[in-house]
Amino acid sequence: MQPEPDLHYLCRPTEPREAALPVEFLPATDFLADEPACRQLWELVSTQFRTRSKFLAVWAGVRYVAVHRAADGSADGFLLVNAPVNWQIDYVVVRPDARGKGVAAALVTETVNQAHRRAVPYVMLTSRAGLKNLYAGCGFTPVAGGADPPLTAGPAGH
Ligand SMILES: CC(C)(COP(=O)(O)OP(=O)(O)OC[C@H]1O[C@@H](n2cnc3c(N)ncnc32)[C@H](O)[C@@H]1OP(=O)(O)O)[C@@H](O)C(=O)NCCC(=O)NCCS
Repeated sequence: MQPEPDLHYLCRPTEPREAALPVEFLPATDFLADEPACRQLWELVSTQFRTRSKFLAVWAGVRYVAVHRAADGSADGFLLVNAPVNWQIDYVVVRPDARGKGVAAALVTETVNQAHRRAVPYVMLTSRAGLKNLYAGCGFTPVAGGADPPLTAGPAGH
């Protein structure tokens, strides 16, 4: 069976849309001070993705982490933001018991809102084609020739 192709997406932040769930948007240094959340993120990266080495390469450039918390206060959803000028979203991941409730959509929506507040021109991401509805619903459009290499030298396929 052919592996599912990756699509590359762009979003130009415009009018903020309200995220359906509360999301913390933290500088990476603040996130690192939250030991249990760091452990949870590493657990999810280890179990939900094939590439821990890629995660470590991406982490070096991460400026912000978006975090969703369960009712007990534990972190159950994450995404990472690389932010040289335009932003790149990496490693959107939600704890299995928290899926299907709009956590990923809230993380992405809040990140685009934060980009808008900071006048960031574009937000980019790469993801498998099966998640098109998730990202389209958050205002992302696949780049034409979506299976081609991305415009920037970012990591692909997560
Ligand atoms: C993919 C993932 C982040 C989705 O998290 P989630 O919180 O369950 O997603 P949401 O509840 O916010 O769903 C938002 C939309 O995406 C759709 N969606 C969510 N997961 C999906 C999946 N695996 N396949 C197809 N569509 C999916 C939902 O149907 C929903 O669409 P709707 O608004 O039309 O109902 C989560 O399943 C996960 O962590 N998976 C493992 C890691 C991964 O694959 N990350 C993606 C890397 S880009």
